[in-house]
Amino acid sequence: MARLIGGVGSSHVPAIGNAIERNLQSDPYWQPFFKGYEPVWNWMEEKKPDVAILVYNDHGLNFFLDAMPTFAIGAAAEYQNADEGWGLKPLDPFQGDPEFSWHLIDSLVHDEFDITMCQEMKVDHGFTVPMSLMWPRQQGRDRVKVIPLCVNVVQYPFPTARRCLKLGEAVGRAVASYEADLDVVILGTGGLSHQLDGQRAGHTNREFDTEFLDRLKDDPEWLLKYSNYELAEKVGPQGVEMIMWLIMRGALGNDIRELSRNYHIPISNTAAGVILFENEAV
Ligand code: DHB
Ligand code: FE
Repeated sequence: MARLIGGVGSSHVPAIGNAIERNLQSDPYWQPFFKGYEPVWNWMEEKKPDVAILVYNDHGLNFFLDAMPTFAIGAAAEYQNADEGWGLKPLDPFQGDPEFSWHLIDSLVHDEFDITMCQEMKVDHGFTVPMSLMWPRQQGRDRVKVIPLCVNVVQYPFPTARRCLKLGEAVGRAVASYEADLDVVILGTGGLSHQLDGQRAGHTNREFDTEFLDRLKDDPEWLLKYSNYELAEKVGPQGVEMIMWLIMRGALGNDIRELSRNYHIPISNTAAGVILFENEAV
């Protein structure tokens, strides 16, 4: 049986990809940010998960405003990256697990989540930056197979935070019902507070992000009291990406331990957060 061994929440700013490429991890600007990933690197090194379900948002590389699925899952053998114009060099393709993807899609649809299924899918910085953060070396990224789970947090209306939490619970059930003997990790990415455009560009909200991180383990429902419009006011229109962390959280169930976290403002325009949970139930 497949086992969901843990989950990570992480931000995905494009500049992070450039910093990794240029080996700037010890640079004074970057050091307080990358230091927060050391426990994650050590945990990944120790646990060596076979598959990563990566919950992320596409920012216009694969999906655009003309046709925007609320939830889409990749079912490809390989996922290509491409130049998006952030100065990020495209990374090598990521290896998929189509059989597991189809199991997830089948299980979720029968659990009443109507998923867009993608047999071809390009992945943007929302996907590649978290991959580089979890596995900074090519060798690490090559070891783990990936299943992209893409969420619309770009064009309103977005799915509600409640829907995301419930989708996560359904992902947890889907993993638990997969026959293959695999260790699986789930990554919830994007956020935390940031606003890239308009008069309030550069807005962050330390107080709100801190409460979100404090409550994520034992009270993830706390976020559900905010609509996505209210959330945009609190954490910025791009900060709403944080609802994707609830998919990771929902998948893990309640028997979890927080192993580490870090929070750092700013990375580019973003309040950058990382949190690592281990599943104690498996
Ligand atoms: C930044 C943050 C994002 O979430 C993103 O998708 C692009 C850029 C930033 O802070 O620069
Ligand atoms: Fe983003």
